[in-house]
Order: sequence, then structure tokens, then C-alpha cells
Amino acid sequence: MTSVAIVGGTGPLGRGVAARLVRAGVTVRLGSRDPDRARAAADEVAGWLGDASGHDGGLTAGGNAEVVVDADVILLAVPYGGLGATVDQLADALDGRLVVSAVNPLTFDDRGPVPLAVEEGSAAELVAARVPSARVVAALHSVSSRELKRLDEPLDDDVPVLGDDEEAVAAVVALLERIDGCRPVAAGPLRLAGVAEDLTCLLLSVNRRHRTHVGFRFTRL
Ligand SMILES: NC(=O)c1ccc[n+]([C@@H]2O[C@H](COP(=O)([O-])OP(=O)(O)OC[C@H]3O[C@@H](n4cnc5c(N)ncnc54)[C@H](OP(=O)(O)O)[C@@H]3O)[C@@H](O)[C@H]2O)c1
Repeated sequence: MTSVAIVGGTGPLGRGVAARLVRAGVTVRLGSRDPDRARAAADEVAGWLGDASGHDGGLTAGGNAEVVVDADVILLAVPYGGLGATVDQLADALDGRLVVSAVNPLTFDDRGPVPLAVEEGSAAELVAARVPSARVVAALHSVSSRELKRLDEPLDDDVPVLGDDEEAVAAVVALLERIDGCRPVAAGPLRLAGVAEDLTCLLLSVNRRHRTHVGFRFTRL
């Protein structure tokens, strides 16, 4: 997999993943509802990468509908509240495509992060329900955007990768393995995506109590 389109690529997750992938030699197309915002985000990411990356040519930007057109992988990096409408707008373009959802359905109240109930079971399953032909994979839910941006440091994270299409899961594992310090772990069917999504609330709660940005590891694997 050599090209990744990021829908909602202007956010902290999209920019962070873009920087890591471009550094790894992957072509990234940053998407936004506003092409100018996408271009500004791409300029920012190129600035993080500096001349040393040698891969700045691998980063382009545009409207969400434009960037998804011919990418090998489409990463959904929008807030849960905008997910359904975004997927509906892009539904034709997502037909038959490898779509990765990093979306966490969560909110915050005075006690911290809390998962939101999703009728379909999870955000990833919502995508699969709206575009049944898409090869939907769930991944990257609990990787910290702050850590992604610290390009001089390897990540220190396991990334559960979930999906019902084994080839699609293997392709996403191979893609994420290119990120220094990231260990993608094929973890089971899409019906478990909600577990990975909800785990993010636990990590955010730990962050809140311990004032840090924890990562997640499977031990003894
Ligand atoms: N931040 C993290 O560390 C992190 C880590 C793992 C997973 N995630 C998940 O990844 C997703 C993105 O996280 P984020 O922190 O980058 O989010 P964000 O900054 O809130 O949103 C990302 C981008 O989505 C677009 N957007 C905002 N509202 C939208 C709507 N209603 N409809 C369509 N697009 C909308 C915006 O781009 P434009 O306005 O330019 O279109 C925004 O820059 C979330 O679902 C989050 O749970 C985040």
C-alpha cells in the first residue's frame, strides 16, 4: 500500500499520521471539507518533516472527495459526530475500497471521558453498515497525536487492527509496520472494534489522572 488519503486530515490525528507515513515513504493525500484548510495543514506537516525527510513530494492536499479518488487506503479521521454524514457524502467513492476507521465515539463530562453508545455496535461498524461494499478496518484508536508529532522519537504503541476482510487487515498491518515504533496487531473481527474504541476512554482517563499521554501494549505477544 503506497498511498493513503486522510479524510479529516487537518485534525491532530490526521496531521500526525500523515507526518509519520510520509516519513516512511508513503504518499499521503490530506483531506478536508475545505481544500484551503487541507493545503495549510499539509504545509504545516511538511514544516515538521523539514528537508531531511526527502519525502515532501509525497504529501498532497485537497477536498475530502478529491483526495479519496485513487488512494490505496482511506483513513477516516473525523469526529464521531460528523462520521455518518461524511461517510454518506463519500459513499460512492468508498464503494469497494479499503477504509480504515480511527474514530472513537466518546464524549467528556465532569468525570472525564465516556464512551458513546453506537447503534451499529461501533463507529467502524457504522461505516460498514452505511457502505456495505467497503472493506472496513478499525485501527489507530489509541495512538496519541502528541506522540505522532514527536517525529524524532519512535512511537511506543501496539495498534489493534480489526476487520472481517483478512487481506484488508494484513494490508493495514503492513502499512502501519512502516511507522517506527508502531506494532500493529491483527486482533480479530470488526465486531470487536467497539472494544478498541472504548479502550481509548480508559487511556484518556489514565492520562487525565496521571497527567501524561500513555500508550497501549499487549504483553507476551
Ligand atoms: N487526536 C488524537 O490523538 C486521536 C487519536 C486516535 C484516534 N482519534 C480519533 O480520530 C478522529 C480525529 O481526531 P482529531 O483529534 O484529529 O479530531 P478533530 O480535530 O476534532 O477533527 C478532525 C478533522 O475533522 C474535520 N471535522 C470536524 N468536524 C467535522 C464534521 N462534523 N464533519 C466532517 N468533518 C469534520 C475537521 O477538518 P476540516 O474542518 O478541515 O474538514 C477536523 O480538522 C476522532 O474520531 C478521534 O476520536 C484521535
